[in-house]
Amino acid sequence: MLDQVLGMPEQMAEAERIARRAGYGPRCSSRLVAVAGMGGSGIGAELVRGLLAQDSALTVVPCRDYCLPAAADRSSLCFVVSYSGNTEETLSAFEQARRRKCRIVAITSGGRLTEASARLGIPTVRVPAGLPPRAALGYLFVPLLVGLEKLGLCRSYRRDMAETVKLLCSRRRALHRQARLIAAGLCGCLPSVYSTSRLLDAVAERWRCQLNENAKVMCHTNVLPEHNHNEVVGMGKPAFLARRSVLVALLDATTHPRTRERLAHVLDITRGAFVNKVELEMRGGPDLARMFGLIMLGDLVSVELARLLRVDPMPVARIDELKRRMGRGKERQ
Ligand code: F6R
Repeated sequence: MLDQVLGMPEQMAEAERIARRAGYGPRCSSRLVAVAGMGGSGIGAELVRGLLAQDSALTVVPCRDYCLPAAADRSSLCFVVSYSGNTEETLSAFEQARRRKCRIVAITSGGRLTEASARLGIPTVRVPAGLPPRAALGYLFVPLLVGLEKLGLCRSYRRDMAETVKLLCSRRRALHRQARLIAAGLCGCLPSVYSTSRLLDAVAERWRCQLNENAKVMCHTNVLPEHNHNEVVGMGKPAFLARRSVLVALLDATTHPRTRERLAHVLDITRGAFVNKVELEMRGGPDLARMFGLIMLGDLVSVELARLLRVDPMPVARIDELKRRMGRGKERQ
């Protein structure tokens, strides 16, 4: 898993080559883009939404359930993303997209999604198989962004991508050193990861999912300034949490200056509600690079925490067991 995380920039570069060669079909003028996908295959949609919110009028709606939003119709574009190609909820949303005659593009490494797309002549970006889906973020995220560009729905991120790959390569050793220190501070504690900008909301979520799946621990997330209007009151309760909470705040150039002020006040008035706090910010480069810098850092923290907790970051037994049980239930229906 550590090798996979450290190889993220190379994977992003390869994903871009794959996506640039892939056929997405003719350009379109959809205003609504629904993206169906779960877990490691769903987070890419949230990241794209966060990124495009900064400089595009396109509405990206991540869909992480069996059904598409009612607004998705024949004028909409629907990306269907499943690394395995066999995820039940995603296949159900795929069927719905077909029934509603959405324009569909599939992103997958195989499975039933590949078979159905080939049979129906649906454009498919086929990515390399054999990884845990969460370790294939580059393969699952980059084709979304390149696809939107090729379909004429957003600007080109080609230069941003090249800069991101370069920055991640040059910073990965320093990020790894930083991750070891952060992981040591999280050991035995409940991390609360707070995003302070809409660019970083999905990054905080990625931190949570990676801590869940790699380190096998719980993690709490929330966003500022919304947090200031509710959660701030409950922080540190029940009391055992105060002794075991670590606050991780993700900051960025896109964080509103008043939100920075808010964070400083929160840290002051909730002193005693957490044992430690870490403020993290990537500097330099385009939005995409700062986003992926913090993602890589979070991924590394999750692997280093797994090491400290002596758990294997690779298996996700409970996810597999749930899929098995649900599969059995389906056979009986
Ligand atoms: C496993 C992981 C999971 C899967 C999810 C959906 O590494 O990250 O969250 O991504 O169960 O499966 P796929 O990605 O195959 O559609």
